[in-house]
Amino acid sequence: MARYAEKHYWDERYTYDPEPFDWFQRYSTCGAFRDAVRECVKKSDQVLLVGAGTSRLAEEMYADGFSNLFNLDISRVACKLLDERYERAGGLPIDNRVGDAQALSFNDGSFDAIIDKGTLDALLCADPAAGHAMLAEISRVLRSSGGCFVHVTDCPPDKRLPLLQNARLRWKLHRHVALPRPLLVHHLPVAKAAAGDGDGADAASHHMYVLKRTAALH
Ligand SMILES: C[S@@+](CC[C@H](N)C(=O)[O-])C[C@H]1O[C@@H](n2cnc3c(N)ncnc32)[C@H](O)[C@@H]1O
Repeated sequence: MARYAEKHYWDERYTYDPEPFDWFQRYSTCGAFRDAVRECVKKSDQVLLVGAGTSRLAEEMYADGFSNLFNLDISRVACKLLDERYERAGGLPIDNRVGDAQALSFNDGSFDAIIDKGTLDALLCADPAAGHAMLAEISRVLRSSGGCFVHVTDCPPDKRLPLLQNARLRWKLHRHVALPRPLLVHHLPVAKAAAGDGDGADAASHHMYVLKRTAALH
């Protein structure tokens, strides 16, 4: 559904449903996702959560000891909801910024790690070029040697790896893990459509790809 790449769609959706919602998997309940993040990301690392929406990922990582977390989303409504939530929780020191994943307003190499759950999928619904632009920006703002990109989707490797393993992105696949889908998946038809590959979405598993930035082209 091309609307998943539209800011207005997400503003309307978050206005209609302001409750916290996590696509695919939650950090607090998916051990494999949590373990991969703990393995690749240091607690003091600068971490960008791209297309954060109303996800609880940042709060749950903060509770786990990560201290430099930045949420970014194109939806002003989502960012305001996160600001209000963090304020109610006593003023969590997590930065929420309105911005476009295809044109990030950060300097090269600003982040040690970037995590995406569902945002690349949303952009791919509209246009493959939008997905390519987002990946190029993620590669640019990742630390140039060893920076880590964690991507969670329901798109299986045969469909997603050709996109991720583009030499221009200057990263290498470190790990792929198939994550069992939670028993209760809300918004399933929406999540399937947002996989961005039509019926290429995997009905049985979610997929986590961990990529590590390399200094040189490979
Ligand atoms: C499928 S939701 C995933 C939300 C969250 N990451 C999660 O795991 O629950 C996609 C998110 O991407 C955001 N988004 C869509 N296009 C974007 C863009 N160009 N730049 C930044 N965020 C975008 C939407 O507002 C929405 O919050």
